[in-house]
Amino acid sequence: MEEVWVAGAAMNKFGKMSDTGREAAAKVSLEAIRAAGLEPKDIEYTFVSNCFGVAERQAHVGPLINTSLGIPDVPSATIESACSSSSAALHEAYVHVAGGFLNAALVVGVEKLSHMETLSATSYFAMGADYAFEARNGATFPGLYATLASAHMQKYGTKPEELGAVAVKNHQNASGNPHAHFQKPITIETYLNSAPIAWPLKLYDCCPFSDGAAAVVVVNPAKYRRDIPGTSAVIRASARAGSIAALQDRPDLTALPAARTAGEKAFKQAKVTPKDIDFSEVHDCFTIAEVLAMEDLGFYPKGKAAPAAREGQSAVDGSTPINVSGGLKAKGHPVSATGAAQVVEVFEQFNGHAGKRQVKDPQWALCHNVGATGGSCSVHIFEKK
Ligand SMILES: CC(C)(COP(=O)(O)OP(=O)(O)OC[C@H]1O[C@@H](n2cnc3c(N)ncnc32)[C@H](O)[C@@H]1OP(=O)(O)O)[C@@H](O)C(=O)NCCC(=O)NCCS
Repeated sequence: MEEVWVAGAAMNKFGKMSDTGREAAAKVSLEAIRAAGLEPKDIEYTFVSNCFGVAERQAHVGPLINTSLGIPDVPSATIESACSSSSAALHEAYVHVAGGFLNAALVVGVEKLSHMETLSATSYFAMGADYAFEARNGATFPGLYATLASAHMQKYGTKPEELGAVAVKNHQNASGNPHAHFQKPITIETYLNSAPIAWPLKLYDCCPFSDGAAAVVVVNPAKYRRDIPGTSAVIRASARAGSIAALQDRPDLTALPAARTAGEKAFKQAKVTPKDIDFSEVHDCFTIAEVLAMEDLGFYPKGKAAPAAREGQSAVDGSTPINVSGGLKAKGHPVSATGAAQVVEVFEQFNGHAGKRQVKDPQWALCHNVGATGGSCSVHIFEKK
């Protein structure tokens, strides 16, 4: 297998975009290509993710992005895996470069939904769950993750103040991130007094609806080594796993089996353990999801991650930094851009460009990106080069 490096990465500010999805995707793509020291003509394939393009009346956005980049003849394909779409696209790019089929590929994720009311956006998102058994019967993502949270609380005694510690930390981290949707820290009192959304989850347990775009350029360094200007991130593991989609069919609601499997595969591929990882970007669409990730990936035994968050262990300067970017909770969650944006954070951290949220001299990083309530999951592990 060939080595695969992330040689360039870029994202826009998450929140409300004035650009259309296709415009934003083309802009961040060009930025990522330039950061890799390449030109658009070097790109051999574009892997796109854009789950809800139909909300802009636009499917098949790949050729439009490539045309804006001046490379209309380059092939493209859209990869869909709900909230893990762009990490699934990264996996496809990885497989092609590692297998020697491509030397340079672009991965770009984009979503624009801010023109929709919360109700419509909620029903669009619910399509990522099992429509026949969940969404059609009224289950929404806040409701489904609330079910996971209440199961975790019942089994492990997880407390609202512990989930609140995750929210406070991620808003604090996002306050140092110019790409973040929310850049204002919150206090635990603000969290505890925030409006109930789906018991036991409150407003500040939830990620917002964000617009955004993020792009990553992966290369075979044997071909492009001399041209790469900054520090790269070598992809040491690119693992995906699946599980039963509907919650009612799962034997246990206090873990996401796809995350466990993808994590185990990734650590085995990379030949490292959770102790070797200097920071992680995990899929905290709701605060409980960050707690589940910390446990599913083996950073903490079951029931121990939430108390650890309250003790500050997952802070930027803690023993196990998690979501130093602000995570989905506060950096924002434009579904199809999220997985690629996690990699942008790795790229910025490895290049020492993360400002107030910089982790001290990171060598290894992990990204965990969940599709819906865990029907799919990707885990990538990166080494600084
Ligand atoms: C939590 C949620 C219901 C709030 O929606 P809403 O009640 O319609 O809120 P609004 O958009 O009217 O915003 C009201 C205020 O709350 C803020 N806000 C909205 N969502 C927020 C969030 N998740 N966290 C913090 N603040 C939030 C807004 O910025 C706004 O602040 P302002 O009054 O200072 O401008 C919505 O953000 C949500 O459903 N999030 C989950 C999205 C989701 O399921 N994603 C998929 C995950 S798998």
